[in-house]
Amino acid sequence: MTVLIKNITDLITCENLSRKPKHGKDQSDIGLIKNGFILYNDDKILHKGRMLELKHFLKQNKIKIKNEIDAKNNVVMPGFIDTHTHFVFAGSRSDEYEMRIKGLTYEQITAKGGGIKATVKSVRDISKEKLIEITLKRLKKFVTYGTTTIEGKSGYGLDLKNEMKILEVIKFFKDNNPYNLDIFSTFLGAHSFPEGRNKNEYIEEICEQMIPEITKRRLATFIDVFCEKNYFSTKDTDRILKVGKKYGLIPKLHTDQFNSIGGIEIALKNKAISVDHLEVVKLSDIKLLANANYNIIATLLPGVSYFLNINYPPARKLIENNVPIALATDFNPGSCMTENMQIIMSLASIKMRMTIEEIITAVTINAAYAINFQNSAGSIEKGKQADLLIFDTPSYKDIVYNFGVNQIKTVIKKGKIIYKN
Ligand code: NIG
Ligand code: FE
Repeated sequence: MTVLIKNITDLITCENLSRKPKHGKDQSDIGLIKNGFILYNDDKILHKGRMLELKHFLKQNKIKIKNEIDAKNNVVMPGFIDTHTHFVFAGSRSDEYEMRIKGLTYEQITAKGGGIKATVKSVRDISKEKLIEITLKRLKKFVTYGTTTIEGKSGYGLDLKNEMKILEVIKFFKDNNPYNLDIFSTFLGAHSFPEGRNKNEYIEEICEQMIPEITKRRLATFIDVFCEKNYFSTKDTDRILKVGKKYGLIPKLHTDQFNSIGGIEIALKNKAISVDHLEVVKLSDIKLLANANYNIIATLLPGVSYFLNINYPPARKLIENNVPIALATDFNPGSCMTENMQIIMSLASIKMRMTIEEIITAVTINAAYAINFQNSAGSIEKGKQADLLIFDTPSYKDIVYNFGVNQIKTVIKKGKIIYKN
């Protein structure tokens, strides 16, 4: 069934002719078509072009349109790809939020027994069924704000049973969710250390029991570690990523959030697909990323800087050094409680001085590369999924300029309308 979307003022294709993540000046290339249209067949893009060429194209290719959507002179772009979230968790940490407002830091709250540990307790106390119920509501919020592909991590279980519970919830939605979202899962057993356990013993358990069992059950695609002072050292990180790789998981890394302890080097050594956070990354590590002999994405999470009131990652320095950037929410109860990618885009602009075009690339095609999904999504190109957002505005610049309100009119996932405003 062929569907036409017509009268698109700004058709942002994010076309990726180089077939590589966009870096440096290319990060600004959004493949803009003025006065455009899109044709898709069932769930896949068939063609895109200018309205002027539409009639001729339909005639020449003998295409009969079954359904028409009039964008009414508004913007259309690829669906947002949120590649770093912790969307499966239970409980609320609004009490900690209040403590932080009064002046305590994230690290001080953790030292008082709050932080990740508090959420671990809530997750251990809840059934899988209840966790599914809570998670479904969250997925709906992500969709409402334009996310059509999402990654989610474990890391609030910190034992085999509860890490698997989280990953099974992700798997449940991966196999079947009412929005048809593409969902990717990451094993983050090395998010923190469980209460009352010897650190080395826990690392041993991650490597010897958790990774083998989780991979046997095909519960994760990626492996991640919180490489940070008082959490997992570079040596621990190296070991865990290596074992993960041996079992077929693809490394990612939480690194350089509060302290720069050498995580970038370990990520590169293990061919991590992305390095995430980078609030305090050093210039020498940026150079290492720039000189990597494969594509590695720097996934920046400005929502965390806002929510914890800490440094913003040096986006301009990364772009100047040709490191491709993606942006994600890092949605989680402790350091960034928002499902809204549009807010992240606003922060990236004001606080990291990324241009509107660089930001658009960072939430679409570059994000797709951060989860190895670039052949299916992230741009409006023939053969890719019809994952599309129709905005309620004629200029793509308004997506970032007009902040704090939801500007989405329609969300289309694999050719189906999953949200209408
Ligand atoms: O990505 N940095 C570590 N992990 C999360 C925070 C988790 C939490 O506080 O619950 C993050 O920011
Ligand atoms: Fe995170």
